[in-house]
Formats: sequence, C-alpha cells, structure tokens
Amino acid sequence: MAGGIATIDQQLENAARAFGTPTYVYFADAIETRAQRLQAAFGGRFALSYAAKSNPNPGVLSWLKAHVAFLDVSSIGELRLGIGAGWDAKRASFTGPGKREFELREAIENGVGELVVESVREAIAADRIAALLGRVQDVMIRIAPARVPKGFGDQMAGRPVAFGIDVECMHDELPKIFALANLRVMGLHIYSGTQCLKPDAISENYRTFIAVFREVSERYGFSPEKLVFGSGLGIPYHNGDAPLDLDAVASGIVDELDALKSEPRFSGTQLVLELGRYLVGEAGYFLTRVISVKDSRGSRIAICDGGMNNHLPASGHFGMVIHRNYLMHKVGGSDAGLEKVDLVGPLCTSIDRLASGVMLPRVEEGDLIAVHGSGAYGLTASPIHFISHAAPREVLVDQYGQHDVTRAFGAL
Ligand SMILES: Cc1ncc(COP(=O)(O)O)c(C=O)c1O
Repeated sequence: MAGGIATIDQQLENAARAFGTPTYVYFADAIETRAQRLQAAFGGRFALSYAAKSNPNPGVLSWLKAHVAFLDVSSIGELRLGIGAGWDAKRASFTGPGKREFELREAIENGVGELVVESVREAIAADRIAALLGRVQDVMIRIAPARVPKGFGDQMAGRPVAFGIDVECMHDELPKIFALANLRVMGLHIYSGTQCLKPDAISENYRTFIAVFREVSERYGFSPEKLVFGSGLGIPYHNGDAPLDLDAVASGIVDELDALKSEPRFSGTQLVLELGRYLVGEAGYFLTRVISVKDSRGSRIAICDGGMNNHLPASGHFGMVIHRNYLMHKVGGSDAGLEKVDLVGPLCTSIDRLASGVMLPRVEEGDLIAVHGSGAYGLTASPIHFISHAAPREVLVDQYGQHDVTRAFGAL
C-alpha cells in the first residue's frame, strides 16, 4: 500500500470520523497496484476479469471498469450492479451453476458478453431463450477438471461438484452444446480452486487447464476466442501466512502459455485471468469501534459495533474449519505493550466473535480496530439482516478523497 501504515491509519481515522462505524474502507490505489503487479508478473499475457462476487460494491465496480478488461458476474443481481456502475454488458461473463430462466433471459436481452454454460441443461435453456429473442448468444463452456492440486482453500473440481461439466463426461456432453443453433461456443472456462498461497500448486493447476483447453479445442476443431483461467491466487489472512510469490507462479507457467499461443489454433486466443480477492482483498479494511470492554473470568473482551453480521468471514463462519484470527490492528496503536483480547460483535450470540486471544495494544472503549484482508468477501458474504443492526458504511478512497459508496439494504 502506497504511503505506509501511518497514512492508512490517518485515512481510517478520517473515514470513521466522517462516516461513522462500522465501516468498510477500500483503497483504490492498492487495487491499482495489484492490477499493475499482475500485468507485470505475467508480462501482459492475461487480460483480467474481475469476479464481482468478491466485492460488488457499486463504487468499487465503477472504479474497476477503467482498470480491468472484463467483469464476471454470478447472478442477475451482479449483472444489474455492473450495468448500474457503468459497465457495458458486452464486457461481462455470467457464471454460476444454478442460473434461472429469467436470469438467462435478462442477461441475453441486455447483451451479456458471454454466458458461461455449466451444463447441457442450461445450454439447452439458453439456446431456447436466445431463439425466442432472435439472437445467437456467445457462450463459454465451463469444465471441471478431474484433479486440483493440494493447497486451495476451496475446491470447485477434482471431486463431486455442482460446477461445470466434469472432464470425465465432457465428450458425451460437449457435442450437444456445440450443436445448439442459437449458441456460439467461443471459449472455455475453468475455475477449480480458490485462495491458494502455493505458487507451484497454482501453476500446476494452470497446466491442467491448458491440457483440458488443448484437448477440447483439438477434438472439436475449434479455435477459442477466449480461454478463462480461474486464478486461485490467494492472499494472507492470518499471522504466519506468507504472501503469495506471484513471480514464482508466473515463472511456473509462462513457457506453457507461450507454447499454447504459438500454436496456430490459439494464436488469436485471448487468455483471461478471472479473480477477485487477489485484486481487492488486501485493499480493504473493516473498521469497527469498541463500544465497551469487559473483564470476564480472566479474559478481556472488547465488544465492538460490528461483528459477524458485517464480516462473516472474519468471524470464521465462512468455510473456515478452525477459527483463526484475521490480521488486524488497533488504529493509531503502537506495537508496544501488546495484550491478549477477545473481540466480539454486538449480536446476542456467542458465535459473534471477530478475534479470540488476539494480541493488540491495550484495547479501551472508543478504540478503532481495523480488520485487514476485508476488501473481498466482507460485506457481500455477511448476514447483515441478522439482529437488524443498520448496515455498515462503505468508503472508497481514491486520489480525489474519500467517497461514501454505502449500499442500501432495505429497511435497516
Ligand atoms: C467462478 C468463480 N470465479 C471467480 C471466483 C473468484 O475467486 P477469488 O476471489 O478467490 O479470486 C470464484 C470464487 O469462488 C468463482 O467461483
């Protein structure tokens, strides 16, 4: 992050003063740095596609449209948010294993760039709707490889999954999709694992993608316009997590990418890296203020104004098997005199806990705590309606200052 922690803390304090807490604060310069870093590491071989699911905040979406090539949405709601934020639907792809007919229809009507079809059933439905609308719709086919290397936080292939067409049966299923008159298969898509910090596992995964892409393209005599690589690039969330070595990922794969591109069939193919958290995760902080402090049976407990209702992943209830504290700091605190403290939210449930036994400078009433790694899967992954507290504010910081980009969530 440009400017270092002191600048970040000043910005966080300003945001809390101006907008109140709990608040998410997103730093645009940090997202930009990430986008540039990705382009530099892979030598421009990949265009970037932003997965809206990681953070569909309209301010973030709007800012991103000038910084990444494509947008990937996984519901019609995300497509509406993207269009509302000024994205041309042509730059959007629509993934998701359970697209409903009205979603397919609205996406096609709005001119979505590609539907990422995940089953023959869905392709048949899309073909019928495209025919009714008098369109030929571009599609990519999502394929689920048989294997995902160890090291991914969540796996969307390599075991029984709802996502995409399993490679084991793709040669029964793909011809049925290629045959549909109102769909034009122009690309292939694989997203098989997320949140990986091991460069070797990521580049091995990409090699698997390349093998599948090559096999399908050769078998069906097809020159894909786009091949989408689900990035799997992870970020450090916890003490002891080493940041991902992006150069090591790149050096493990660029030769294979170049070999692929040197084949005539792929010379015009655009390679796309689809990702969310690596771009925006570390650019965001969740800011919560300590309402009161209680010493209870030997533990110091700080009760904060936002908890799992605002940030489910930090509470450990978003796929974490054993809760580990997110990285966090006390805004304006030094590293001297660290003490163990439990941070809980305002909800009447013992699972509303942001941190257990985290070491922070002594926490007092009124202190501000900043939870790191909160720019992706923060608010969007949280049960904000539980116990009916007002939704947190959201602030985007760019070169012009701080902007209130708070979303409305109904009558809270
Ligand atoms: C299809 C698809 N694309 C993109 C993503 C974004 O993943 P990440 O935020 O880890 O980059 C996911 C995450 O689950 C996904 O399922």
